[in-house]
Amino acid sequence: MNAKPNSLAARDIEYLMHPQTNLKLHREVGPNLVDHGGGVWITDGNGERLLDAMSGLWCASLGYASERLAQVAYEQMRKLSFGHLYRHNSHEPAIELAEKLLEIAPPSMSKVHFQNSGSEANDVAIKLVWYYHNAIGKPEKRKIISRKGAYHGSSVATVSLTGKLDMHEGFNLPLDGFLHTDCAYFFREGQKNESEEEYATRLAENLDALIEQEGPETVAAFFAEPVLGSAGAISPPKTYFEKIQSVLKKHEVLFVVDEVITGFGRTGNMWGSDTFALKPDMMTAAKALSAAALPISAVMISERVYEVLVSHSERLGNYAHGHTYAGHPASAAVALEVQKIYEEMDIASVARRLGGVLNETLMEFADHPMVGEIDVTGLMAGMELVADKQNRTPYSADQRVPAMVEEAARKNGLIIKSIGSRIAFAPAYVMSEEELGELGARLGKALDQTYAEIGAS
Ligand SMILES: Cc1ncc(COP(=O)(O)O)c(C=O)c1O
Repeated sequence: MNAKPNSLAARDIEYLMHPQTNLKLHREVGPNLVDHGGGVWITDGNGERLLDAMSGLWCASLGYASERLAQVAYEQMRKLSFGHLYRHNSHEPAIELAEKLLEIAPPSMSKVHFQNSGSEANDVAIKLVWYYHNAIGKPEKRKIISRKGAYHGSSVATVSLTGKLDMHEGFNLPLDGFLHTDCAYFFREGQKNESEEEYATRLAENLDALIEQEGPETVAAFFAEPVLGSAGAISPPKTYFEKIQSVLKKHEVLFVVDEVITGFGRTGNMWGSDTFALKPDMMTAAKALSAAALPISAVMISERVYEVLVSHSERLGNYAHGHTYAGHPASAAVALEVQKIYEEMDIASVARRLGGVLNETLMEFADHPMVGEIDVTGLMAGMELVADKQNRTPYSADQRVPAMVEEAARKNGLIIKSIGSRIAFAPAYVMSEEELGELGARLGKALDQTYAEIGAS
């Protein structure tokens, strides 16, 4: 790119380091600048309007630039712009938000522990798993299992939990004691003539064998997203979680459900745990908790686990953990207002209704030669791209076909996200049916243009 000297783009290259970006390439291509947002639309640095089908990073669930949320943040910052929760300190927004979350959480949840991001929430959940097992006199129960392809965060511990090899490479990770079992990706990993149920049985047996091999007395917890988000919005095969949960129970392995993407209606119920009948010992939430208007996340803890944590902190004299901004009053006040909006909208039913429209919109591409599978749960969806529909052959990674579709979509004014061999969609709950139609029209152009380009190459 030829960024003009002193332009925003030139200053970006000069001063900013970007996450999840090829740093060298960034110096050549520069930033995709966005200027402002409203509803489900973003206006970029050139004044072009883009329809955001990803709610930012699965998070801006109520769209952009809400006056109502801005007002709440403003008033809270004027009243109490900082307040922490250390050493018995507290404030109303954190208390009210915790109370509200427990009203809507599965009944086994009894306490809310605020953090600032999804990574932090999962990081704390890992610490609590260790604290719990130390408390019950099983300090050797330390290993944590998650799944290949799963994403649980970017901190040292949560990226170890994450099952993405490219995120370990170069960082000397994962840490010892973090193990990865199968991904639960029926379209790609189900065997010929194997049913979804048989595949689920095989995966549960593999998990059981892994725990036996490691020694059940050393395995502390299993972390999973109800729908694998950053693996490309992959829903679980039928009966999967039922079978996995019985393996966990058998070996007294704690189940931590990562609801960072799936919480607050995304799967068509308030929690992914409701949609798939999960019984978590702990749950983590972030993103749509505050509709991404301000950073905040939460670990929700079951009464059974919490009582053990209490006794251990009494023994040690303290629960020696904390983050300065955890439960920040402005973030908590905004998140509380977001919960009120969700209640007014009846968010889960909105997700189901719009999810139905999204499903119809995407199913129009079921016969497209590049499309192998369309996987919709609630208001999130993954579209698998294939080089050969019959044999489900993926495009080779270096062809970058899903990335080409993402780029073509952006040129057509649509933001989607390519992940591996898939395209992900997670529209905001305020997207209209007309805008969903527009999403389909722009996506169709992107698929056709990419198909024509590949054909020509
Ligand atoms: C399922 C899941 N867990 C955790 C995280 C990490 O959240 P954050 O980026 O807020 O640290 C993400 C982020 O995308 C996520 O999708």
